[in-house]
Formats: sequence, C-alpha cells, structure tokens
Amino acid sequence: MSVGIQRISFYTAPFYLDMSEFAQARGEERDKFHIGIGQDQMSVISPDEDIVTLAANAALPIMQEFDPKTITAVLFATESGIDQSKSAGAFVHGLLGLSSRCRVVELKHACYGGTAALQMAVNMVRVNTSERVLVIAADVARYELGSPGEATQGCGAVAMLISNQADILAIEAGSGYYTEDVMDFWRPNYRDTALVDGKYSTMVYLTALKYAWQYFQEERHLAYNDFARFCYHLPFTKMAIKAHSRLMKLTEQEANEATIEQAMGSSLRYNRTVGNSYSASLYFGLISLLENDAENLAGQRIGLFSYGSGCVGEFFSGIVADRYRDYLYTTKHQTLLAARQQLTFSTYLAFYKQFGEVERNDNIEIAHYTNGHFRLSAIRAHKRQYVQQSS
Ligand code: CAA
Repeated sequence: MSVGIQRISFYTAPFYLDMSEFAQARGEERDKFHIGIGQDQMSVISPDEDIVTLAANAALPIMQEFDPKTITAVLFATESGIDQSKSAGAFVHGLLGLSSRCRVVELKHACYGGTAALQMAVNMVRVNTSERVLVIAADVARYELGSPGEATQGCGAVAMLISNQADILAIEAGSGYYTEDVMDFWRPNYRDTALVDGKYSTMVYLTALKYAWQYFQEERHLAYNDFARFCYHLPFTKMAIKAHSRLMKLTEQEANEATIEQAMGSSLRYNRTVGNSYSASLYFGLISLLENDAENLAGQRIGLFSYGSGCVGEFFSGIVADRYRDYLYTTKHQTLLAARQQLTFSTYLAFYKQFGEVERNDNIEIAHYTNGHFRLSAIRAHKRQYVQQSS
C-alpha cells in the first residue's frame, strides 16, 4: 500500500494579463517582471468566478473519472474565504454531487493551508485505508492596485484525490516544519485585498525554509543528493530560485544557473503564466514538473517546501509512482492554459473592480464571462448561486 496522490488536477481562470502590458501601463521596465520577478503572465479572475468555481472546476476531471459517491471527505484549503461560517467545501460538495456520507471542512493558514490539508488527508488514509479524500486548494491572489504586490497576483485551484493507491506521488512519512508569529502578509476581515510587507515576507520565507530543512534532516537523515527535483511555494517564480540557492548553500552544493535549473526541472513553467494562487501554488509547481519534465521521474524522490505567511513552513517529500505519466491530465491542462483569453489593461482593471463589488453586494445578477463549467450567477438574500454550463 502506498498512500498519496492518486490524481491531481488544476483549473485557472480563462483570462490573463501579459506582464509586458502590465509593465507598460505601470511605467516599469518589462524585465523587472519577466526577469526580476520571473513572471510572464497572470491569470485574472472574472466577476463570475470565485474560490468555489475554481475548486469545482479543478475537481471536475477527477469526478468524471471516479464515482463522486465514493469520496469520504473534502478538505478545502483557502485564504480567500467567501463566508465566515459556511465552508466553501460545502458548495463544492453540492456542485459535484458528493455523497452525504462525506465530511467537509475549510482549512486556513495562508498559503500553507493546502499542505496542511494534504498531510491530514494522508494521515486519514493511513488510519483507515477506505478513506478517499478530495483535497482542494483554491485562491485568488489580490493586492491593492498600484502596490508592489499587484505584479504578483493570479488565481487558481488544485484538486487532489488522496487514497491508498498513490498512482502519481506517494507521500513519505516525516516532515520538518517551522512556525513563528510574524506579520509579513495578512488580510483583516474587512479587506478584500491582502496587506504585505513584501521584502520582509521574502526574508521570512527563507528563514522558514532553513529551519524546516534542518528539522527535516534530523527526522529523515536524507542528503541533498537523495532528491531528484525540488518544488517550492511559488508566490512568483524568482522566489523559488532564491529559495533553492539558499538550500544549496546550506547543503554546501555549488549553486549556479545550471545546477539550480537541473534541481527545479520544469516546476516553474505553469506558474510563470498563472501567477500566485497562494495555497495551490506549490501544487501547480508539482503538476508543472510532472507534466513537463523531459526526464522520466518514476521512482525518484521529490522534495517539497510549503510556506504560508504568518508563518508556517514545511519541508516534506514524495516518491514518484512508476506509471505516473499515465494518470496525469497533461493535455487538459495545456489546452486550458493555451485557450486563455488575453485581457487589455483596462479590461483587467474593470474585472478587478467588479470582482470586488461582487464580494461586497447583495441581490445582484452577475454577467456571464467565464467558459468554466461552473460559474457564479447571482447573489440573492446574501446567498451565492452557482450554475453549470448546460453542454
Ligand atoms: N531587469 C531585471 N531585474 C530587475 C529589473 C530589470 N529591469 N528591475 C528590477 N529588477 C529586479 C530587482 O533587482 C529585484 O530583484 P531582487 O529581488 O533579486 O533584488 C526584483 O526585480 C524585484 O524588484 P523590486 O525589489 O524593486 O520589486 P518591488 O519592490 O516592486 O516588489 C515584491 C517585489 C516585494 C516581491 C512585491 O512584488 C510583493 O510585495 N509581492 C507580494 C509578497 C510576496 O509575494 N512575498 C513572497 C514571500 S511571502 C509568500 O510567499 C506568501 C505569499 O504567497 C504571498
């Protein structure tokens, strides 16, 4: 029996803003974003999508392959909550037609929530092998217009089926973690955009990596060379390159462009175009690696570092399954990314504004923009109403 990821699927909004256009509109140099931050595009959420539609759309391919009635739990990680009480997972439970014999809960710790959910799911399956847990991480990364964070927005969801048949990645027992009470990034209840101390947040990320790795080594006694590739939480792709250089220094490896590129493989490719998806972004990186790496990674160990501001960091590992390539949704994902529609800067601003208004208003009909299967159609008597495409 190997417990871990049986299927992994992502969804992102079908609209994007090109970072060259962003640079021009904000009067910045294009290379600041393409090179300095490491982002080419960012997915832009339309007013008729939210974390529920992102999540349900991400989980749909898995639910088309497996009977939804066999799912025993939904662990929904997000820091873009739409309700202070009702779990976003309950909406997803309804939209996907899951069994009433299923537990649903929403989890939060900034971008770390997805990993907390994954580890809980793995432990649930270890205790009871009949559990089949749907882990979903979904977020909309949203900062104030004109702030330094604006360039690092994005949105998306990753859904993972966790069971005792790890067709894709077996999660190994034993992690290293690090927690510290810090104010690097936060979003008070009365705000729909995050507040962030940007430079400080990148320093705390690196500190968390150092101590999580040290703890991991004490627990697992694995050396740098025991890993074929590394995946990181990706607020922007340059962050992972900085993180990996730090890890190489800590482990006395020679860090240069070639050795870093070798270790990261193709894990940055999707995130360069999707942008930050907070709790989902590490898992976008994992999918990107598995779907694009030229080398067959079967049987190899992947190191994963999850970071959530506030802060929690966790370093853990997984072993890639023998026939993992047979179980990936590579074509679906690449078609989704290729079919996204480019927005002008003014349409991006209009979507941004309307999305904020949807969050603040009641009794509104929401125009239809997305081509996703699920969308938010209205809010009536403070209740969100979702519809499915009829096709
Ligand atoms: N060509 C090449 N590089 C250029 C350039 C050019 N023309 N112009 C600037 N650069 C480089 C800069 O030298 C800099 O590189 P270094 O970081 O290696 O020094 C990089 O581009 C960014 O430039 P600035 O430092 O001037 O950028 P900024 O001050 O506008 O903001 C930021 C950068 C702090 C990351 C900001 O985007 C931000 O606050 N983002 C949100 C916070 C965030 O993502 N934090 C990450 C850690 S926290 C976390 O991970 C949780 C999460 O998801 C939020």
